Amino acid sequence: PIQAFIFDLDGVITDTAEHHYLAWKAIADELHIPFTRQFNENLKGVSRMDSLRLLLSQAETPVDYTAEQLEELAQWKNRIYQELIEQIIPADILPGIPELLAELKRQGMRTAIASASKNAFTVIGRLKLMDAFDVIVDAAEIKNTKPDPEVFLKAAELLQVEPGCSIGVEDAVAGVQAIKAAGMFAVAIGAKEAFSHADLVLGSTSELTWSTVSEAWSARN
Ligand code: BG6
Ligand code: MG
Repeated sequence: PIQAFIFDLDGVITDTAEHHYLAWKAIADELHIPFTRQFNENLKGVSRMDSLRLLLSQAETPVDYTAEQLEELAQWKNRIYQELIEQIIPADILPGIPELLAELKRQGMRTAIASASKNAFTVIGRLKLMDAFDVIVDAAEIKNTKPDPEVFLKAAELLQVEPGCSIGVEDAVAGVQAIKAAGMFAVAIGAKEAFSHADLVLGSTSELTWSTVSEAWSARN
């Protein structure tokens, strides 16, 4: 039986994937680097520094930045991002998520957040969801970032559940890879074409219900 649901934060619980995009877009514009929403899909779920490297790889004339300059650029992006998320309120929780969390409690499920963000606790605090999850694992607690399974495995370990009896929910390609590498059942939120490696793909969080997921799980097992 299913024991736990482990959620990505940005783009699954709330639309901070958009704030990350807007902050990177501002940096790209300043540096005159072409940066599209389509390319931004590659940055989802990816750590701040790796995202920066990906963004810089799009420059028409590549520049060799020192480690210090890279650090400054990453901090600049983070300042823009933090300013953008100052406005976040509980009403910004994505559709269906509060209902799902309540239903998971009724079903006796354990729940966790597995986020690649160092701002995860800030976002969760602004959403007033501090007590909504049994466990929160953020970027500060892990060495290897998605697509490495570490953050999902750490969450399962802290929840004391079997990865094979856990559902991971993600909006990022790298995130779904991490869930599968952890041996979990992967639910992707997004476009079908992007997630051939997921066990279940849903167009939006409003379709993310206990019955939809548990039926798909039963069909697979
Ligand atoms: C992930 C986001 O949750 O966190 C990425 O999907 C982001 O877009 C990553 O780069 C790191 O976030 P932060 O807040 O530590 O820069
Ligand atoms: Mg995400």
